[in-house]
Amino acid sequence: TEDLHDRQIRSLAESILLKNYKVTFFLGAGVSTASGIPDFRSPGTGIYDNLAQFNLPYAEAIFTLDYFKQNPEPFCVLAEELYPGNYRPTVFHCLLKLFEDKGILQRVYTQNIDNLERVAGVSDEFIVEAHGSFAEAHCVSCRKSYTSQEVWNKLIDKAGSHKGIPHCSCGNYIKPDIVFFGEALPQRLFNQWDEDVDDVDVAIVAGTSLTVYPFALLPSEVPRRTRRMLVNYEKVGDFVKGRRTDIFISADCDTIANKLAAALGWEQDLKDLVEK
Ligand code: OAD
Repeated sequence: TEDLHDRQIRSLAESILLKNYKVTFFLGAGVSTASGIPDFRSPGTGIYDNLAQFNLPYAEAIFTLDYFKQNPEPFCVLAEELYPGNYRPTVFHCLLKLFEDKGILQRVYTQNIDNLERVAGVSDEFIVEAHGSFAEAHCVSCRKSYTSQEVWNKLIDKAGSHKGIPHCSCGNYIKPDIVFFGEALPQRLFNQWDEDVDDVDVAIVAGTSLTVYPFALLPSEVPRRTRRMLVNYEKVGDFVKGRRTDIFISADCDTIANKLAAALGWEQDLKDLVEK
């Protein structure tokens, strides 16, 4: 017999197909764990539980501007690991691309800095990187801008080993445009959200603890008519109180990506993208 989750996924898929609904995604680190990148807050495996080597005053100091200005080393070590190029997209990332190809993608709001939406082939216009990316970098003092490659060349030597902390010509540190605690979010997030918010038909929130604001508020700002689905190991954010029509699926993101594609009749298309 079909279980509740399967029925909910099938009903959502039917609405998407019959009512020409478009889908907006709200993503966090949990959509990328299957690629080998740890998330932040999972007990034991999350990045914040594995920073002992750095002797930080508190875990989030690694992404805090004032701390970075005093001691950029911990972030730089982590940045080397997280720098785009080291990891492959997950099935879930391929689902985003599939939705774009099928014309049912409205937008992907992501907190992730791993660039995997782009690596999966999702086009620029659909991606909103709410917490920035490694694509550009700036000096924390004179704001001179650097490319991702320039920063990488300062971080890593030709043999692939750690070289040093990227310094600006003015002598200060260069920081990739990842949004740190204490920094403003990209203006594009607010502009795009103003344009999109009233038109969200289907909101799929996946792999995020919804603990970092203002991103955590986005899924609560969609209209009452929006069909919302949370795919996450725990119920989080305003899904805890919830709306009558909410779907909550406590399961692995990739498992649900496969099920959703199958319910839409696109199982093979997704397989093809994953194998590409
Ligand atoms: P978190 O680590 O806070 O939350 C990840 C969530 O995904 C947790 O609820 C996990 O249980 C769940 N999860 C992990 N793997 C999963 C899987 N395979 N399937 C389903 N669920 C899974 O990560 P974020 O919410 O992304 O900010 O964290 C938000 C922000 O906090 C990040 O963008 C980062 C961090 O400080 C910056 O770097 C600026």
